[in-house]
Amino acid sequence: MHDEDGLSWGRRYLMCPPSHFGVLYEINPWMDATTVVDADSARQQWEHLASTLRVAGAEVVLMEPADGLPDLVFTANAGLVNGNQFIPSRFRHPERQGETDVDVQWFSEQGFTVEWLPDGVSNEGAGDALPFGDVLVSGYHFRSDAASHAYVSRLTGAAVRSVELIDPRLYHLDLTFCPLDSRRAMVAPLGWDRYGLAVLENLVPEPLFLEDEEALEFCGNSVVVGSVVVMPACPPRVGRQLERWGFDVVVCPVDQFLKAGGGCRCLTLALDVHLGLPSAESTVT
Ligand code: ARG
Repeated sequence: MHDEDGLSWGRRYLMCPPSHFGVLYEINPWMDATTVVDADSARQQWEHLASTLRVAGAEVVLMEPADGLPDLVFTANAGLVNGNQFIPSRFRHPERQGETDVDVQWFSEQGFTVEWLPDGVSNEGAGDALPFGDVLVSGYHFRSDAASHAYVSRLTGAAVRSVELIDPRLYHLDLTFCPLDSRRAMVAPLGWDRYGLAVLENLVPEPLFLEDEEALEFCGNSVVVGSVVVMPACPPRVGRQLERWGFDVVVCPVDQFLKAGGGCRCLTLALDVHLGLPSAESTVT
């Protein structure tokens, strides 16, 4: 059996249907604006992901897609959720900044309290921040500024562990790090600097280190629902280790979305996250 002490979050997700998805600009190394997205296939892959999450025991709630915002499907980047609090992203690239109004409207309508990071500091939400144990592992460099972490910590009360991302192909934390349960996580050393890896050593008792090719297949961009790991791809070596630990692996191909540099995790935003546990100190290290 996998660790009884599974993740305390990951049973409720926000997704956005891909009706307006496409590769219309280039803001990461995977995007090529001349690429054509097969809309039917994107829809099927997205539906398959949503139904797989439901079968695994998660609730999936939806946000309306919006014309002219092709990357709105990547709800992981909407912002940070902490209980009833929503902190909207401050997108690095102007191409995505129009998403914020849509995200804020949705979260306000759902009764969340919206709290803002200061202007002029970039932060791309859960794409760059994943809870592990009682800390919030947070990536910076390509999309989020290191300076945003102190504000996140102040607003949420979470203890933040900052990690510098160093490979432009792995530009968001969620391409390099995937919490599995209270002791285990997948990690792509390709994307982390030496100091980040030292932080990890102290934090994750049983890491599953991804080989570079595995990381570049977006293996780490997986969604964990209890003992089910929903992955964009799963090389045999990774599958064997996950199964040895008692996880059930389900592969959901999302190659239409990989054209925009996003996988399974990017297409979801966990809504049942509670940071800043009473024992956690509001510190940034
Ligand atoms: N095209 C999007 C971008 O470059 C993909 C976002 C992927 N999201 C994620 N959480 N990794 O911003």
